[in-house]
Amino acid sequence: MIITIDGPAASGKSTLAHHLSQELGIPYVNSGLLYRLAALLAQEAGVRFSDGPAVAALVERSDVELQVAPGQPNAALRDGEDVTLSLYQPDIATGASQVAVHPLVRHWVTRKLRALKSPDLIAEGRDMGSVVYPQATWKFFLTADAGERAGRRAREPGVSVGETPESLRERDQRDSQRGTAPLSVPEGAVVIDTTGLTPEEVLAQVLGAVRQRT
Ligand code: DC
Repeated sequence: MIITIDGPAASGKSTLAHHLSQELGIPYVNSGLLYRLAALLAQEAGVRFSDGPAVAALVERSDVELQVAPGQPNAALRDGEDVTLSLYQPDIATGASQVAVHPLVRHWVTRKLRALKSPDLIAEGRDMGSVVYPQATWKFFLTADAGERAGRRAREPGVSVGETPESLRERDQRDSQRGTAPLSVPEGAVVIDTTGLTPEEVLAQVLGAVRQRT
């Protein structure tokens, strides 16, 4: 069983994926962490985010891994070291969106995700239902109005502190307008507007839809 959750930044995807993973006892993967890892590697190596072939060459020879387990947040390892926290810096969020325009980088992420080989998986990102797992059992697409998304991001403890509403807007625009695998509502996805909803209410809607069709 594969469940995909796509949507713009701060629409509630990670929170939903985590809760759903706890509720159903199956692992979830946050695909944005792989784009963030690519940005971190580029930043550390002094490679420009705009240089697709160089970023792709760098990630292809890197030793990075996402650790996924049911009900647990994902951990990102680089050369065996847990670098998850550094991935949430605002410049890495922007960099992730910039390296994500390159087809070769997207190809690397897609291969990494498909190599997870978990029979049951919840996958969240921008192109999970449209490109990476078009065969998914259930597809969800979360939206929320821009003001609410910026407010949520600002209130998140510890992570993404400093990502401004302008940066979120820019990221959404780049993610939706790029030529390869742009953010879009996958065919057959259930669209949920999470504006004004609590995480529990979003989870209840998703579980309701999943159980109704099981
Ligand atoms: O989900 P996130 O905000 O951590 O993702 C960071 C960036 O990575 C996002 O702005 C665009 C890119 N991304 C992508 O292009 N495709 C995905 N499936 C996930 C993330």
